[in-house]
Amino acid sequence: MAGTVKYACWHVLGAGAIGCLFAGALQRAGSPTTVLLRAGATATGITVAVAREGATRRVELPVSTAIQPGHISHLLVTTKAQDVCTAVMSVGHRLDSSSQVLLLANGLGFAEELRASLPSPVYYYGTTTEAAYRRDPSRQNAARREIYHAGSGITRIGRPGISTPPAWFEQWARAVQPSTWDPAIEQSLWLKLAINCAINPLTALHRCPNGDLARPHLAPRVANLCEEIMQVSAAAGYAEATANLPARVAEVVTATAANRSSMLQDVLAGRATEIDYITGHLLRVAVRHGIAAPANEALYRSIAALAH
Ligand SMILES: NC(=O)c1ccc[n+]([C@@H]2O[C@H](COP(=O)([O-])OP(=O)(O)OC[C@H]3O[C@@H](n4cnc5c(N)ncnc54)[C@H](OP(=O)(O)O)[C@@H]3O)[C@@H](O)[C@H]2O)c1
Repeated sequence: MAGTVKYACWHVLGAGAIGCLFAGALQRAGSPTTVLLRAGATATGITVAVAREGATRRVELPVSTAIQPGHISHLLVTTKAQDVCTAVMSVGHRLDSSSQVLLLANGLGFAEELRASLPSPVYYYGTTTEAAYRRDPSRQNAARREIYHAGSGITRIGRPGISTPPAWFEQWARAVQPSTWDPAIEQSLWLKLAINCAINPLTALHRCPNGDLARPHLAPRVANLCEEIMQVSAAAGYAEATANLPARVAEVVTATAANRSSMLQDVLAGRATEIDYITGHLLRVAVRHGIAAPANEALYRSIAALAH
């Protein structure tokens, strides 16, 4: 007799665009999935509507809040980088050494902060090139999320030094397609950081689509940023990952020419940006290795100043 498949029960912390996209996919694929809202939320469930090319798929998801009890076995974290620590700490009482925590926010640096405060869970790290945004930016209705799935991409997940995926990964990869287990996740996350450093802050500062970075007035600035980023990368042990950085950045600029970077979208919407965990992280590593990165530093200061 065939055994019953035991599905991992996921809690999703960060019920925004990416969180709802993945929560819906996990629930539809059979993994019981609960959305975690901030303490004080009164909704008992939410409807996630994911639209793509004229079709909309709806899924109902149960809700829990940070202050509620109950062990969390599998936690997907999809807040913005600057919210990761506060958000995960808010459910820290529900996590233990058997809890599997997958951090999928963009940028680097928050994981170290989190592990220092909450060392017991088993942490996994990921990056995705899926693209989604909330269509209900006013966020009036807490019980409903309207998500537009703007583009397909790949989701890479890993845990440094671990080449074999954990038991839950097979189900995950069936739900979130395509997903790949990445034994070199640190290199992948660094490359993503390097590309983001070269593209996001400059587009946010000039309020331009990604494609404008190929224009003569901005291309030399991108080249300058890349040169500094490659120096810092080499000192930090990521020379190989960023060996072709200018070409990789040019590819992304061309492929996403009409897109507004997430940092530009945040600036235009008056929201906090992830700069502290993108260029800010690069600069912290640069300081650690005694490397000057003046172009990146100037850009960091300009973007950080926008928040005030
Ligand atoms: N969207 C994309 O296409 C995309 C693609 C690749 C990577 N990413 C990365 O994925 C991450 C999430 O992006 P996103 O676009 O999905 O952001 P988002 O739509 O702003 O979603 C973030 C969610 O986190 C919630 N949150 C923040 N602090 C919380 C807390 N303490 N407790 C509970 N919930 C909390 C926010 O709630 P409130 O609404 O109440 O503030 C919001 O719903 C970012 O790092 C982004 O760079 C996004």
